[in-house]
Amino acid sequence: MKHIQINASRNYEVLIGRNLLKDAGKWIANVLKPCKLCIITDDTVAKLYAEPLHASLKEEGFELCQYVFAHGELSKNVTTYSQILEYMASENLTRTDAVVALGGGVTGDMAGFAAASYLRGIPFIQIPTTLLAAVDSSVGGKTGVNLESGKNLVGAFWQPSLVLCDCDTFKSLSYDLMLDGISEAIKYGAIVDSVLFDFIAQEDIFSDSVLEQITAHCVRIKSEVVEEDEKETGRRQLLNFGHTVGHAIEKCSHYTISHGHAVAIGMLIAARAAFKLGYSKENCAPAIEESLKKYRYPLHCPYTAKELAAVALNDKKRSGQEITLVLPSVIGECYLQKTKISELEHFIAQGLSE
Ligand code: GLY
Repeated sequence: MKHIQINASRNYEVLIGRNLLKDAGKWIANVLKPCKLCIITDDTVAKLYAEPLHASLKEEGFELCQYVFAHGELSKNVTTYSQILEYMASENLTRTDAVVALGGGVTGDMAGFAAASYLRGIPFIQIPTTLLAAVDSSVGGKTGVNLESGKNLVGAFWQPSLVLCDCDTFKSLSYDLMLDGISEAIKYGAIVDSVLFDFIAQEDIFSDSVLEQITAHCVRIKSEVVEEDEKETGRRQLLNFGHTVGHAIEKCSHYTISHGHAVAIGMLIAARAAFKLGYSKENCAPAIEESLKKYRYPLHCPYTAKELAAVALNDKKRSGQEITLVLPSVIGECYLQKTKISELEHFIAQGLSE
């Protein structure tokens, strides 16, 4: 098992290994005193993993309650969030109790935001069960929900007390759900680590031990970035590579195109446009496209530059009349480029055409 320490406004460990769920109670008891735990999960994950998790938590003497919502990005909204808060209140959770997020990115973000805001903040534990949540969203304390106007437009930075990542849970994921995580791993390679990028592009990463290694590698990169810039005023913005256009694609598709698939297309559009417009030293698009094609990502974008730009301008990355884009200069090195919002449509149009 790998232990990765995150030093942020709250210090915590990310534990990455196999068969960890059965010992979840033991690991959580190391960081929380006996209390009531509110497990927040979706209907798919509850069927798979709630039982062993409950057994392990009860063994350590934790009192339990559980809120289950309908799986999927469409549940990540203010209504579900408010229902979770009402449930927590009905269970009389106090400031010495805690939330356990069991599931993928939607669950972690929403449960984390409930923990961040209920009684002005109670502790929470992340138990990611998807590759996407393990390599990215469960670490670093970004929590939130979507608004009608756009993705993740309301939320808080609220660090967990522990992240417990049992890589055996990835075995229940469909190929498409695995792709959602792989694009985030490719992102880490593209922004800071060409060796990781080449590894994912060339090797078969589906073996158990390799997935565990890659998860740990991505979490180490994320820990270093988050420690330097927890509140995303600078370097952490690099982690948004592919996300400005990616979020716009998700929103335009009414979330039928998933986050990881949208980010894959978003990275390619950003890389193509960056080279065509003379921002990048090298054309990084062919290498990114080759890696994405190896994993058979659907790379066709069904929206126009005008549609995407209109939605992207609601994105958090906008500040006044400018939007910060993350662009690759070479594979393994990205930088932040402020761009006038009036130029965004042209930028996206350049990225849409090969
Ligand atoms: N997913 C990007 C970040 O955590 O900053």
